Amino acid sequence: MGRAKRTIRTMEEIIVTGGKPLNGSVAVLGAKNAVLKQMVAMLLAPGTHQLRNVPGILDVVLMGRVLEHIGATCSFDGHALTVEVPDQLRPEAPLDLVRQMRASIVVLGPLLARGGVAMVAFPGGDDLGARPIDMHIDGLRKMGAEFELEHGVLMARAPRGLVGTEIGLEFPSVGATENVLLGAVLATGETTVHNAAREPEIEDLAAFLTKMGARIQGAGTSVITVEGVDTLQPTTHEVLADRLEAGTYAVAGAITGGEVRIERCVPDHLRMELRKLTDVGCTIGRGDDWFTVAGPERPLPVDFATLPFPGFHTDMQPQMVALLSVASGTSVITENIYDARFRYAGELMRMGADITTEWQHAVIRGVEKLSGCPVIAPDIRAGASLVLAALRAEGQTVVGDIHHIDRGYEDFVGRLQSLGGDLERRPAGAAQ
Ligand code: UD1
Repeated sequence: MGRAKRTIRTMEEIIVTGGKPLNGSVAVLGAKNAVLKQMVAMLLAPGTHQLRNVPGILDVVLMGRVLEHIGATCSFDGHALTVEVPDQLRPEAPLDLVRQMRASIVVLGPLLARGGVAMVAFPGGDDLGARPIDMHIDGLRKMGAEFELEHGVLMARAPRGLVGTEIGLEFPSVGATENVLLGAVLATGETTVHNAAREPEIEDLAAFLTKMGARIQGAGTSVITVEGVDTLQPTTHEVLADRLEAGTYAVAGAITGGEVRIERCVPDHLRMELRKLTDVGCTIGRGDDWFTVAGPERPLPVDFATLPFPGFHTDMQPQMVALLSVASGTSVITENIYDARFRYAGELMRMGADITTEWQHAVIRGVEKLSGCPVIAPDIRAGASLVLAALRAEGQTVVGDIHHIDRGYEDFVGRLQSLGGDLERRPAGAAQ
């Protein structure tokens, strides 16, 4: 047990020798995008909380640091995380932590709900674009919070506490829905969120909060109603399976023309992604908590557009683009969630992909082969997609800046090795 186990390794790279089909099975862990919010939700109740099926990823370590800064104590034992939340919280999230992980912005809701004050460094843009937080602020403001930006820090105060109200989101933002939900559970009266995000991770957050004693209806639909309660209690919860981890290993099977079985997941949470994999010529088998993907020798081209759930997940877009880069024709992709999510295309093009991007569209003319070369992982999913492309490419690829991959995948290299992939981690710049 202990924090020492969860170290942050930097300055490493992944070296991949492509060409081997991946075969075998892999079990996925809890969802990054669920566990991070559940960790924050713990702040709503003093006492000892436990989460199980917690992935050993860098973002969980970073969120642990945010909680510790606020006054909680976190300890890991394998995939279990125990958090002690004190009565008194230090209601702030500093810049170095918020910069490393934007998701820390969801502390606003619980801190306001607990003590009526929150000081959170204002996150700037990031690799995926400008990423404003106006909807988070508007929602909490409607509930009685006042915001001021002072020296780069967002000062939030709710002098009369948060009060339930009707909130209509302009766009079904995952983070804004969560921030409002996390504030509403301890607010006075009833809050209704219209045009709420419907992602499975929101449903899992609501399930967790409900176990803590919250009263929530409609999570997983566009209208969520919360009846505020006076206090919440600590609880124990098993985190929902990570559909993005599952989808990434599915593409690993597809792109290498192998057959991979993904276990301990919810195939229904990847309905659109599995449909598109079928369209590229994959054979899919499935049960309640597993599915298999057998890849074609060469994928067929397909068009798709990213959309909020249940549409095609933007966080599966780079992996799918890697697959389509070797398709037997031209695919057109439309990215509707982020304004700068094709920046990684240049790295794939270094490997021989033929991609033209224009604002939110990418045209991918499939090439017969990719060839290995040094590339840089620009973010979590793009980093994973470069490794997937490298597994198909001729020769050796060296992927740098892999701390991005560590943010979202536990032992990515080990799991791909267990499927027969020829790859390893090594210190950056080590002799070949
Ligand atoms: C979460 C996920 C991220 C995923 C995204 C969409 C986590 C930790 N991250 O991010 O992996 O890609 O959902 O499924 O769970 N927006 C605004 N104003 C706001 C809020 C959002 O303009 O106040 C915009 C964003 O800039 C973005 C879009 O809305 O272009 C979607 O953002 P949102 O759904 O909020 O994503 P996140 O919660 O940040």
